[in-house]
Amino acid sequence: MSSTVITNIATLVTNDPSLGDGSPLGLIQDAAVVVDGDRVVWAGGSSKAPATDNRVDAGGRAVLPGFVDSHSHLVFAGDRTAEFNARMSGRPYTAGGIRTTVAATRAATDEALEANLTRYLAEALRQGTTTLETKSGYGLTVADESRALRIAAAHTDEVTYLGAHIVSPDHADDPAAYVALVTGEMLDACAPYARWIDVFCEKGAFDGDQARAILTAGKARGLHPRIHANQLSYGPGVQLAVELDAASADHCTHLTDADIDALANSDTVATLLPGAEFSTRAEWPDARRLLDAGVTVALSTDCNPGSSFTSSVPFCVALAVRDMRMTPDEAVWSATAGGAAALRRDDIGRLTPGAYADLVVLDAPSHVHLAYRPGVPLVTDVWRRGVHQG
Ligand code: NIG
Ligand code: FE
Repeated sequence: MSSTVITNIATLVTNDPSLGDGSPLGLIQDAAVVVDGDRVVWAGGSSKAPATDNRVDAGGRAVLPGFVDSHSHLVFAGDRTAEFNARMSGRPYTAGGIRTTVAATRAATDEALEANLTRYLAEALRQGTTTLETKSGYGLTVADESRALRIAAAHTDEVTYLGAHIVSPDHADDPAAYVALVTGEMLDACAPYARWIDVFCEKGAFDGDQARAILTAGKARGLHPRIHANQLSYGPGVQLAVELDAASADHCTHLTDADIDALANSDTVATLLPGAEFSTRAEWPDARRLLDAGVTVALSTDCNPGSSFTSSVPFCVALAVRDMRMTPDEAVWSATAGGAAALRRDDIGRLTPGAYADLVVLDAPSHVHLAYRPGVPLVTDVWRRGVHQG
C-alpha cells in the first residue's frame, strides 16, 4: 500500500468537531489529508502534513467527505415521464404510480435491471456519492423481490428489502394475504441479500399495524428497520420508527409536535428527501423545526422513477438550504455524517483517521458553494475507498 497526501485544500470538511474550528463540520482551512490504502490516516493543516509516497495538489479547492445517499430505489425498469408531466399540469402524486414501475420491472430481464442500476450508481458517483443505499419494492413477488435484492447486493452493501412498498396488484382484494407473504415466504427469500427492512407506511400503502407486523418480522430475521413515514399525510410512521428503534424515518414531511419529540428522544434519524417534494410539488419538510428540537437530520435523494428522479445530492443540499431553512453547514453535514448516522455507520461520512477514504473535491473554495451555486457541476474529483475515480 502507498500513502498519498492531498494538500493545498482551501477548506477541509472533516465532520469531527474536535478538529479545526470546533464546529460540527470540523472545518480546517489550508488543510491536507493523508490517504493510505482505503483509509484516511491523517487530517490537519497543510504545513504539518507527514511525509508520504505521493502528493496531490488540490489547487485551493474544497474537500469534503463523499456523500452518503441513504435512500434510493434504483432497481427498476420503465419510464414515468407522462406521470411527471401530468403532475406538473396539476395532477396530485399518489402511491398508485408505483404500479406502473412494478409492471415494467417484472417484465425486464436481470441484465436490463442490472444495467439500469449501474448506470445510476455511476451517475451518482460522478456527483460525489460514495455510499448509496438502495431498495427492492418494484417486484412485489417472491421471485421479483429476491432478484432485485440479489442484483442490488452485487453493487452495494446497503441493501433494503421493501416488499411492503404497496400491496401487490395480485393481492389487491386481500391485503392481509400480501402482508403474510411479505412476512413469510418473501422475507425468507429476501433476507439473505439485505441489511435493512423498510415499509411505505401511508394511506394507499400500509397502515401502522401492518407496518409494525412487517418490520417486527424483519427484525426477527436479523434485518434492521427503516421506514417511509409521514410523507403524504400525518400518520403513525414516525412513532412506529421510534418504537422499533428504526435507524431512520424517511420523508417526515407531515409531523406533529409529538412526532418531533419522539424523534428528539430517540436514536432514529429523520431523513429528509427534498427531491420528492420538488418533483411532486409538495410542501417542504420543516428541517428547521427538527434541528431546533435536537433531531439528527440526514439528507438523501430518494432517487426513483416516480417521485424524485434525481441522483444529485448537491441539488438536494441546495433545495434544503433554500427551501427547508437549513444552513449550508447543516445541509452538508446532513448529506455526509447525517447519511452515515441513518445507516448506523461510523466508518464513512467523516474525514478523520480510520474512516474510509471517500472524498469529494469541489471546484470551489468552500462547501458553501454547493448551495451558493445551485445546479453547477462543482464536483471535479471523487475518491472512493482511497481510489481516485477516473
Ligand atoms: O420514496 N414513497 C414511496 N416510495 C417512493 C416513491 C416510489 C414511486 O413513486 O415509484 C418514495 O417517494
Ligand atoms: Fe423512497
